[in-house]
Amino acid sequence: MNIIVTGGAGFIGSNFVFLELREHPEDRIICIDKLTYAGNLKTLKPVMDKPNFKFYKADICDKTAMEEIFKTEKPDIVVNFAAESHVDRSIENPQIFLETNIIGTSVLMDMSRKYGVKRYHQVSTDEVYGDLPLDRPDLFFTEETPLHTSSPYSSSKAGADLLVNAYHRTYGLPTTISRCSNNYGPYQFPEKLIPLMIANALADKKLPVYGAGQNVRDWLYVEDHCKAIDLIIRKGTVGEVYNIGGHNEMHNIDIVKIILKELGKPESLIEHVTDRAGHDQRYAIDPAKIHAELGWLPETMFKDGIKKTIKWYLDNKEWWEDIISGDYQNYYAEMYGKKEVID
Ligand code: NAD
Ligand code: TYD
Repeated sequence: MNIIVTGGAGFIGSNFVFLELREHPEDRIICIDKLTYAGNLKTLKPVMDKPNFKFYKADICDKTAMEEIFKTEKPDIVVNFAAESHVDRSIENPQIFLETNIIGTSVLMDMSRKYGVKRYHQVSTDEVYGDLPLDRPDLFFTEETPLHTSSPYSSSKAGADLLVNAYHRTYGLPTTISRCSNNYGPYQFPEKLIPLMIANALADKKLPVYGAGQNVRDWLYVEDHCKAIDLIIRKGTVGEVYNIGGHNEMHNIDIVKIILKELGKPESLIEHVTDRAGHDQRYAIDPAKIHAELGWLPETMFKDGIKKTIKWYLDNKEWWEDIISGDYQNYYAEMYGKKEVID
């Protein structure tokens, strides 16, 4: 099969490319990535010369470029990871989120219709469900939970999900959607909580925790997410949505403390700063459907996954030190410079 993977030079997309090439060497992977600040070709270097891997630098919003690729590659499956993915950036500049996450999705689906793709899979997020209150630990997001977004990021992802369902119903496009909880693991861009805290701790810089750090996220090791998507595109039911998560809820402050402990750094590095605007309180996925229908279960326990992740960042310093030495410095100064210390 020919599988187009968009956003394959980013965090989850690259982990998915590696999984597919390892587990399904009979398939061809065609990666499309615009190489925004979040895409890194160095990540894909180990697979670049493989005969069953091809890379295109292109924007999913560019109809002409997409048409050319679909015509040439005749994909059987399209898996769309390409997105603007950081909530804080979406608060600063929503526009690009609407372009890539909504328009880009529509262009890919138009091409999928035109070239008879057998499955279009949209990689979505649990953030489309909004948040749950901290004092109701009995509540979880199911696939029936209404979409109720908070940030420009999550709104753009929800907009894309609605469009995917519309293309399925109106045009009969064979679609599936997955909505996963927060991922962690190798190759995550150091703007996100876990790699940012690892990088800052290693440099003995302050660790900026938003507000009291009591917000809850449901963390899943990236490879478990990729395995779930692999199952959905091969065995999932067309037209369905699948939630993905491993019942691993943690308060942000506890994650930060675990990282400091693992690295042998003092908790005095923690600095509570101005909270994120519209900050979602708690995310928690009920993964019963994907377990019952496809037999998926997470394999990596958080206590092991976080150790593996920290070790990866220690062993691959050149990968992220390169990133944080460039434009990232301006991003950091602008984003965190205006935050005030609140304790
Ligand atoms: P990322 O920001 O690390 O990577 C995004 C990739 O998409 C980058 O390689 C970037 O260059 C590429 N890209 C961006 N705009 C593009 C465009 N217009 N055309 C082509 N390529 C473009 O993101 P990630 O964390 O790997 O997330 C991947 C997907 O998974 C996203 O759709 C995101 O919404 C979803 N998701 C992420 C998480 C998480 O915890 N990171 C959880 C659930 C769902
Ligand atoms: P993040 O990794 O940006 O993922 P998301 O917002 O999509 O869940 O953030 C995870 C949590 O960590 C979120 O509650 C915000 C918080 N956070 C901080 O406290 N400090 C930071 O510097 C960052 C980046 C995030």
